[in-house]
Amino acid sequence: MFKKTILCIGAGYVGGPTMAVIAKHCPEYKVVVVDINPRRIAQWQSDNLPIYEPGLDEVVYIARDRNLFFSTDVDSHIASSDIIFVSVNTPTKTFGQGAGRAADLQHWEKTARQILRNSSSGKIVVEKSTLPVRTAAAMERILNSNDKGIHFEVLSNPEFLAEGSAIKDLEQPDRILIGARNTESGKKALEEIIEIYAHWTPKEKIITSNVWSSELSKLVANAFLAQRVSSINTISALCEKTNADIEEVSRAIGMDSRIGPKFLKAGVGFGGSCFKKDILNLAYIAESYGLTEVSRYWEQVVEINSYQQERFVRIIVTSMFNTVAEKKIALFGFAFKADTGDTRESPAISIAKSLMNERAILSIYDPKASEGIAFELADYAGRFTVEEDPYSAAQGAHAIIVATDWTEFGSYDYQSIYETMEKPAFIFDGRNILDHHKLFKIGFSVHRIGRPPMSRLG
Ligand code: NAD
Ligand code: UDX
Repeated sequence: MFKKTILCIGAGYVGGPTMAVIAKHCPEYKVVVVDINPRRIAQWQSDNLPIYEPGLDEVVYIARDRNLFFSTDVDSHIASSDIIFVSVNTPTKTFGQGAGRAADLQHWEKTARQILRNSSSGKIVVEKSTLPVRTAAAMERILNSNDKGIHFEVLSNPEFLAEGSAIKDLEQPDRILIGARNTESGKKALEEIIEIYAHWTPKEKIITSNVWSSELSKLVANAFLAQRVSSINTISALCEKTNADIEEVSRAIGMDSRIGPKFLKAGVGFGGSCFKKDILNLAYIAESYGLTEVSRYWEQVVEINSYQQERFVRIIVTSMFNTVAEKKIALFGFAFKADTGDTRESPAISIAKSLMNERAILSIYDPKASEGIAFELADYAGRFTVEEDPYSAAQGAHAIIVATDWTEFGSYDYQSIYETMEKPAFIFDGRNILDHHKLFKIGFSVHRIGRPPMSRLG
């Protein structure tokens, strides 16, 4: 017999890992994760989990079939649950009012109505998805305007995990944030959610707030993080003009304890499913309250991100004698960051498309993202290949472009790679992760972000 049943609706990058960690630490709770996507659920039930995340397999294997279960039967699990986390996707709207900026809340609202339809007793509904501030008010209206005489308590508990380090982030979070109403039922529900996290999280790291602060804090955290990346990327452009070195500048400013060293790595711009969507959503919300200047301020963070990717492609084309047409170019990395197979909003997508628009022929290698490459570049079929290993990707290529910060890219035998390439051979290290001096000595012309190029061509 379990003490309580926790349900999570949405078995994606957040729902799956988060519930696996909760189940691992709370064996007295039954934890069920449901999704409308049967393939995803089948993968969660198999030895081939649907997402690559270091440490995830171990956690899932500890709890699965003990107190962690995956299912496509959303309705019956809603009926039998006490606490429901909703972790469905909330992408940018692609149609109608707010298209390209606002959050598309259709999955979220459908879920709310489904919860209502299938409940005969009151429940705690927890927003795990990232949502516009004040979404909980709309949810409360949908859920509580029922004629069943039951009450739903809506809480906000945003997720701060980053992909590639999700398990570490969940096991040792900087903080757990829970927003609740300051009512008797709100406080009671809050205690129930705190009790779950207190199984493994020190009490002082579990912070509470009102619902709106919690919803807004999630958008703001992502906006601040992305802003740091865009800020350092603007300075990388200035470094390239002045012979200052972005790595030295990052180090120097990061040692100021008020600034701190993290998220100061210049590169090809941020990707991932969250930053762009959440900043655009924040900007849209600000504008909808008449705060035009606030909105413009945050939009710049996204504009600089596109600028950085375009700038990188311009450097590639210019350095390669102003043409890449019909030249083979090896792209190392397609995931939006290391240690994940996720390609959503990856900077590699726009870089690859821009180069193929210049008629380059790409051979792409990524240790974990092969599936995403074919999906993201479907319109460019015939102009690229997906390679099984980096050596065949680089064979006969004029250039190598590093688009993802996978550690393994630093460990290849670049002498052998160089020998199989067309000459002059170029490397464009969009993540500043390779040993540039060594590559230059081998014979490559080396281009970096925010650092002077090491060119053999004068
Ligand atoms: P995802 O697309 O990987 O997963 C969402 C899942 O919800 C999908 O599998 C989809 O099939 C399912 N779903 C949609 N509608 C459903 C319904 N009506 N019933 C059952 N299942 C349904 O998305 P994700 O990356 O896990 O993100 C989920 C939320 O968490 C988003 O709001 C996102 O902004 C937020 N978030 C994501 C991250 C991250 O790193 N990916 C981190 C923090 C927060
Ligand atoms: C982000 C937030 O970090 C996380 O808290 C939130 O819950 C979801 O969104 P994620 O997108 O998974 O996580 O990865 P993150 O590590 O934040 O990296 C985002 C992008 O920024 C990546 O493309 C990464 O390569 C890039 N980045 C990050 C840089 O270019 N430079 C940096 O210094 C840091």
